[in-house]
Amino acid sequence: MDDTHRGRITRDGIRIHEEADFAGMHAAGKVAAQILDEVAELVVPGATTGELDAFIERRVTELGTTSATIGYKGYKHASCISVNHVVCHGIPGDKKLKDGDILNIDVTVILDGWFGDTSRMYVAGKLPRKAERLIQVTHDSLMLGIEAVKPGNTFGDIGHAIQTYVESQRMSVVRDFCGHGLGRVFHSPPNVLHYGRKGSGPVLEEGMFFTIEPMVNIGRPETKVLSDDWTAVTRDKSLSAQFEHSIGVTADGCEIFTLSPGGLFHPTYKV
Ligand code: MF3
Ligand code: CO
Ligand code: CO
Repeated sequence: MDDTHRGRITRDGIRIHEEADFAGMHAAGKVAAQILDEVAELVVPGATTGELDAFIERRVTELGTTSATIGYKGYKHASCISVNHVVCHGIPGDKKLKDGDILNIDVTVILDGWFGDTSRMYVAGKLPRKAERLIQVTHDSLMLGIEAVKPGNTFGDIGHAIQTYVESQRMSVVRDFCGHGLGRVFHSPPNVLHYGRKGSGPVLEEGMFFTIEPMVNIGRPETKVLSDDWTAVTRDKSLSAQFEHSIGVTADGCEIFTLSPGGLFHPTYKV
């Protein structure tokens, strides 16, 4: 049998992977996370997001991987770089970073057919106080979502953990974008919502691989996509942050595939 088709698919269309598949995801996820580690020191005032992307594209190749985003639905870059009020899918370009800008860099690589998808926050220069809080809350909301992952819990439990925490901090969860299943494909069922009710949604099973990638706004949750058809921004122009891990459900919890080799996946102000 073609090994692409090992495992089974649940009634919700979610692939259940085998134990041996975890190794491929760990290898792919580690490269994506390593690239995010390496780019950190290039994030300084005066650098352009295009320069950061060029570095990422070069490292993707040098590390023996392929970019999942170049050529994806016509996207042309090895990363999405989303600055300040950009929620996600920011297109790298010529704009220079200014002191105090915060940005999410999102990289997805393919290694031996497996996808590793991760993003985290950075700051150019000195981190403003309000941005520091936003970044901390967003990071912590992802980790609380991950803590809700174990067989028998539901996808709604993940969303509920994220939403209740974010809203307790008087911030808002973006509804217009979600996490996703991945594995040997980039985006597959289910939609991993970052809000929801306890006990709702599909039940988590060992062998499910997916991302959790909450986007949190200081202001209102509404977004709009600019005329470039990619860049999503907050409608009220408030600051937005995002962190993303790719994970796999185990017998008693989950494994994170995109852990930072350098221990740099954390709120930017600790760098
Ligand atoms: N990496 C993004 C995600 O988390 C998807 C980017 S698709 C692109 O799902 F085409 F915009 F790069
Ligand atoms: Co993703
Ligand atoms: Co991503």
